[in-house]
Formats: sequence, structure tokens, C-alpha cells
Amino acid sequence: MEKPRSEPCRPVTPSAPDGGASISPAELLSRLDGAHSELLAICDRLEGIADSLPNTLNVRNCREAAGELVPVVMRAHRVEEEEVFLRIAGEARTAALQKTLDHLRTEHCEDECFAEELADALKQAGEGKVQPETLGYMLRGFFEAMRRHINFERERFLTLAGG
Ligand SMILES: [Fe+2]
Repeated sequence: MEKPRSEPCRPVTPSAPDGGASISPAELLSRLDGAHSELLAICDRLEGIADSLPNTLNVRNCREAAGELVPVVMRAHRVEEEEVFLRIAGEARTAALQKTLDHLRTEHCEDECFAEELADALKQAGEGKVQPETLGYMLRGFFEAMRRHINFERERFLTLAGG
């Protein structure tokens, strides 16, 4: 059974890996920015593949993107959840913010599942096992949702950090 969207799909780490060492809002934003930059780079790469369809699919590019996709997504989400989400707003955290963070964690889980499916589709596309229309639909669905998610996080966390 699917979980409600407001409930995280995996256990929330109770504290930061470094024991919650004090980090400035600027440093938190810098870490978030680093995670987002990696995600946006892979989104651009996926968009390039989508734009090449249906006639000029580069099989090697698909294989490389397939190999990078899940590790990049997992790494970025780990930084966001274990370094940024645990510290943002500190003791001033409200119930509304907590709800937002839970929602973002749920989106992360959904995006990780989607990334795995998309990586499989990219591998199979090189073998002619996936229709270009299907691959294009999956690619655009993934990177458009990812960019929306990143824009939301940037706006929300810049406000919280006083940026
Ligand atoms: Fe995120």
C-alpha cells in the first residue's frame, strides 16, 4: 500500500552524522547548492538525450547517464537530508516547516525510484528495447519534476537562511 505523501518513506535520521556540529546558514546553503548543482547537471544531460530523440540517440551517452543517475541522486539526497534538513532553522523550526521537510523527503524517495526506472530504460534504449516516445516521456517527466523540486527547495531554504 502506498504511504500518504506527507509521511517520509524511510526512517528519519535523528541527528547529523557529525553530531550536529554548528554550521552557519551560509555553509548550509553552500552544501545545498553543491547537491543541487550535481542534480541540475544530470538533468541537463538527460534533457540533451531527450532532445536527441527519436533519430540521433547516442547509445554510449545513454549508458553513461544510466550509470551516473542513481548515485548522483542518492548522494545529493543524503547531503540534503543528513546535513541540511536536520539543521535548517535550528530550534526555531515550526510544525509547518517539519511538514514541508517530510514532504520533501517523500519526494526524494519517489525520485530515487523513478531514477532507478529511468536508468534501466536508458540502458535498454541502446538495445532497442524501449520506444523513443516512452524514453522521451520518462526523461522529461524526471528532469522537469527534479527542477521543480530544486526550485522549491532553493526558494524555501534561502528564505529560512535569511538570503
Ligand atoms: Fe531535495
